Parts: sequence; C-alpha cells; structure tokens
Amino acid sequence: MNIKKAINERFSCRGYKSKRISDKDLNKILEAGINAPNAGNLQAWRFVVVNKEDVKEKITKASLDQRWMMQAPLFVVVCSDLKKLKTYYPDKFKLYAIQDTSIAAENMMLMAFSLNIKSCFISAFDDNAVKRILRLPDDIEAYAIITLGYSDEKKSSKRNSLNYSLKFNSF
Ligand SMILES: Cc1cc2nc3c(=O)[nH]c(=O)nc-3n(C[C@H](O)[C@H](O)[C@H](O)COP(=O)(O)O)c2cc1C
Repeated sequence: MNIKKAINERFSCRGYKSKRISDKDLNKILEAGINAPNAGNLQAWRFVVVNKEDVKEKITKASLDQRWMMQAPLFVVVCSDLKKLKTYYPDKFKLYAIQDTSIAAENMMLMAFSLNIKSCFISAFDDNAVKRILRLPDDIEAYAIITLGYSDEKKSSKRNSLNYSLKFNSF
C-alpha cells in the first residue's frame, strides 16, 4: 500500500473481529514505531503489548470503560522513559515524551493500516490506574493506547478543508 492511501484512509476503528494478529505483522507494526523521529534519538519510548483478556479488561475499565476496546485482540500501550529524557532535556522532557510517543503511535497505526489492520489512538485513560495495572516502573509513563485488530468498518470521519488550518508566513 502506498503512503498516500494509508494516510488518507486510516481512521479510528471502534469495532473489531476476533481474528488474531500474527506475530510477524505485530512485529512489523512495532518496528514502524521504533523508526519514528524522536528527541535526540534517545528512543525513550517503551511499548507494552497487552493481549491477555484479563489485562485488556482492566485497561479498558481504566479507559473510561470504552467497552468496544475489548473487541480488539490486542493493545499497544505507548510509554516513555522520562528519566532518560530528563537527563538530556531537563526543561522539555515532558513535551518530548508526548511528541516521541505520538509520532511512534502514528507510525504504528499507518503500518497497521497498510497490513489491513485497523487501529484507534486512545488517550482518555486514568494514568495512575494504567501504571498500576501494567506495573510500570516509577519513571515510565503511559501516553497512548493503540487498539489493533481486523475490521470491516470504513472511514466516516471528515476534515475541514485545508484552508481552515493553513496560513502562510503570519497567522
Ligand atoms: C489525543 C487523542 C486522544 C484520543 N482519545 C481517544 C479515546 O480515548 N477514545 C477514542 O475512541 N478515540 C480517541 N481518539 C481518536 C479521535 O477521536 C479521532 O482520531 C478523531 O475523532 C478523528 O477521527 P479519525 O481518526 O477516524 O480520522 C483520540 C485521538 C487523539 C489524537
């Protein structure tokens, strides 16, 4: 699949089939994550794959109980090692953690889409609960959860025209 098709047709999928994702495809998706731009090439991101039903259930409950999440065969929780970033970027580590993890997440969602695997980026979750459930060490924070799975859903979201968002040289 070419990049234009993946970018234009990716959408947030909230209904999945039970079909599992092969280790080979999951690996391609995760590799896409680690190829993203990142602050200082510190690669401070950490990915936690959640594929056990009981852990998925706890993560779903911690995500405002967005029930549809349970249909997805797996989640990738995109985390960052703040200690590592803070050492190099004491003023900007929080921003960089968000940016690193967001770009990695988009890379993973686009790679998934190219493999016919749909996804959704989820940020509405209780940070402390997710941290506890996944037993994240003190310096590791979760920034996004990506649901992944097969689906027949089609994109329905629309965008404003580019002019709505675009200025040249001055706002
Ligand atoms: C920061 C952020 C947080 C989001 N959190 C959620 C979420 O908790 N649950 C959800 O269903 N979708 C979530 N989304 C997905 C957006 O709702 C979705 O990207 C937006 O409606 C545009 O739709 P599209 O991705 O299908 O183009 C989130 C997206 C972003 C970027």
